[in-house]
Amino acid sequence: MKEITVPVIGSMKNKEKIVMVTAYDAPTAKIVDESGVDIVLVGDSVGNVIQGLPNTLPVTVDEMIYHTKIVSRGIQNAHLCADMPFMSFQSSNKDAVKNAGRFVKESGAESVKIEVTEDYIDTIREIRKAGIPVMGHIGLRPQSVHDMGGYKLQGRDKAEGAKLVALAKKIEDAGAFSLVLESIPQKLAKKITRSIKIPTIGIGAGADCDGQVLVINDLVGLSEEPLPKFVKKYAEIRDLMKKATEEYVDEVRTGTFPSKEHSYD
Ligand code: KIV
Repeated sequence: MKEITVPVIGSMKNKEKIVMVTAYDAPTAKIVDESGVDIVLVGDSVGNVIQGLPNTLPVTVDEMIYHTKIVSRGIQNAHLCADMPFMSFQSSNKDAVKNAGRFVKESGAESVKIEVTEDYIDTIREIRKAGIPVMGHIGLRPQSVHDMGGYKLQGRDKAEGAKLVALAKKIEDAGAFSLVLESIPQKLAKKITRSIKIPTIGIGAGADCDGQVLVINDLVGLSEEPLPKFVKKYAEIRDLMKKATEEYVDEVRTGTFPSKEHSYD
């Protein structure tokens, strides 16, 4: 059994910050696991980050299962959560349970994440009934990009904020073990975090959440600019890769590579 289980994540609230990061392949998963993250999320952001799509909507269950399966091979300690992609749970609770089950059976996921509105509280209950832990996701919900009219800050006014506080409570009552808060004002995230017993994990939600999540390609500087305000780049891997590849191109063209050192006698 791995160190970071669902009860361990729950017990971290008010004690230590929870660190979550996305990964989409085995070598990256191994690096982030060795770095000591608590949760690895195979986000449906795979659509934007890896597949070159403009949004997450076309990502399929089979693609997510493939990425979760390869990520699981790189993880020893962290908890592995898989994002349920668009239309894998919205169509019916029956589909939701079936697809959540596929993630656990076929990919090694230990929990699933769903983007939640009032309409999907029962979905959490049904998946949970099957013994599968559920992470909720509120605020900016990228699967509803068209409905929201773009990737915008959510819960800006009092009424919207109150709705999100009430929704968070319902998600907790339905049995979710944690809750992602995406792109909401810091004050609102603090209010939600204080009003529920399950941990909140923020992205663009300020420092008062119980944990933080970032997309791995954003945090290591592999993503193309512009990036959202909430992203902090801890490295410039894109520049490094470009420089290394340019050097390789140059050396092949000038005959410097391969040298004797990289050739067989
Ligand atoms: O898909 C994703 O990567 C996510 C996180 C950013 C929370 O949902």
